[in-house]
Amino acid sequence: MARHLITSALPYINGIKHLGNMVGSMLPADVYSRYLRQRGHDVLYICATDEHGTPAELAAKEQGLPVDAFCAQAHDAQKAVYDGFALAFDYFGRSSSAENVEITQHFARRLQENGFIEERAIRQVYSPADGRFLPDRYVEGTCPHCGYDKARGDQCENCTRVLDPTDLIDPRSAISGSTELEVRETKHLFLLQSRLQHEVEEWVARHEQDWPQLASSIARKWLTEGLHDRAITRDLDWGVPVPADTWPELAAEGKVFYVWFDAPIEYIGATKEWADRDPENRDWKAWWYDADTAVRYTQFMAKDNVPFHTVMFPATELGVREPWKKVDYVKAFNWLTYYGGKFSTSQKRGVFTDQALEILPADYWRYFLIANAPESDDSSFTWEHFTATVNKDLADTLGNFVNRVLSFSKKRFGEEVPAGGEPGEAEARLGEEIARLLAEYEAQMEALQFRKAAAALRALWSAGNSYLEEKAPWLEIKTDKDGAALTLRTAMNLIHLYAVVSEPFIPSSAAAMRAAFALPDDTATWTTPDEARSLTTLTPGIPFTVPPVLFAKLTDDDLEAYKERFGGSGA
Ligand code: 2FM
Ligand code: ZN
Repeated sequence: MARHLITSALPYINGIKHLGNMVGSMLPADVYSRYLRQRGHDVLYICATDEHGTPAELAAKEQGLPVDAFCAQAHDAQKAVYDGFALAFDYFGRSSSAENVEITQHFARRLQENGFIEERAIRQVYSPADGRFLPDRYVEGTCPHCGYDKARGDQCENCTRVLDPTDLIDPRSAISGSTELEVRETKHLFLLQSRLQHEVEEWVARHEQDWPQLASSIARKWLTEGLHDRAITRDLDWGVPVPADTWPELAAEGKVFYVWFDAPIEYIGATKEWADRDPENRDWKAWWYDADTAVRYTQFMAKDNVPFHTVMFPATELGVREPWKKVDYVKAFNWLTYYGGKFSTSQKRGVFTDQALEILPADYWRYFLIANAPESDDSSFTWEHFTATVNKDLADTLGNFVNRVLSFSKKRFGEEVPAGGEPGEAEARLGEEIARLLAEYEAQMEALQFRKAAAALRALWSAGNSYLEEKAPWLEIKTDKDGAALTLRTAMNLIHLYAVVSEPFIPSSAAAMRAAFALPDDTATWTTPDEARSLTTLTPGIPFTVPPVLFAKLTDDDLEAYKERFGGSGA
């Protein structure tokens, strides 16, 4: 048994996330956490809303709410959707928590003491009409690279180039629209990442051979380009305040830390939030401090987040000169596209997680998304692919098997696992096949290869169907009642096995399968390939019930309705 710390990239507070966000971070982290818990490991899965920065302030303004009230409400709204997706976080925190303020300020003080922070005067856009500096997205204007006229001060959405507000042509305030802007000098804290370049390089070199290629290649690219010193404060009202004991002047001016400085620290902050809810029984530091070999830390994120997690946050942690736990494994994802185009929150293209749950229960989405996760390349969401997968894998292969076996057995043998018959050659062959596929499933899960793990799970379900077709108990029963009882009992053992091993992917359906059998709770633990081979966990006489249909089959009309509502071509 090992201790596994798991985090998924913190979703920005502004707005409900789309399916692309879900499959690139929280969902696979949940699947992995559930699997490890089932295998008996000590798992802590932490996530939180990323609440600071200009997007939060601007979204609050749009809704006419104070930022803190907006964030509180938006946090609850996101949490409700994640509950709907059955994401079993140990804790889902908030980067605006007191815990994160405390730890972020501590990190900053330590970086200062160690000579990795410097105060520098820089030129920033100032709006006399708004009476404030305009950082990042507070300025809009024309992109100097592509001419797009709605480029934001931090990035051009059209050509994706990273910008500085002072780069924009014809800049205007995103608050008041004022074009009477000035450039004024103001002081900010800079993190001297250039001084940490060598240490980060050494650290990456020691770890990258364990990472997937997507993560290590991005880290390498950033290191080759060189780590630049970076402003880590902003002139905003909302954020972690610069501590007055260390920087009285900047604190008096109301400066706060930049959102990307405090957000990764919230992984630690949220763990402390978790512990502060039950301090007698929970020790947050045991997961994070001096835990180098005691804890295995896996992070989940989409590829745009990789530089922050493989290079910048490790640089911060190294510069603090305290033994904070650093990531062991970086699971990075490519993009899920919507009909080959971008899912876009700002342009409302694609399927949002709350809408998805309005249409169908979480298990349909969980299975489809993980089975098609953008692991080795981008993958495309289409309604045609989604409905075909649901119908074939979930409704036909799994759901129909469960229903057919239990209904038929009930009809012919009553509501108990039937007695009679001795396992023969077909059962031995099936047992071998199941043991092999289960070992494959375990190996892919341990390797965090989710698509391949889903394929192995699907193959386990299919093996049941092949066995049933081969034995055909509906014919067998006419000539050999004991033989039919054996076939159905063996098939029920498969259902029980499916209930256990499908749990990481489709937890509610797995619970329904398990609940079909009147078994004490302790039989819900993992079944190893060796144990699975015999297919005799369920013994004759155990009562069962026939669960309601597990997965509804989606019709052509459903498909048309989805395409109609969401746009069927992504255009
Ligand atoms: O890209 C994003 O959605 C960010 N909110 C991720 C932050 S991850 C972490 F470092 F906090
Ligand atoms: Zn541009």
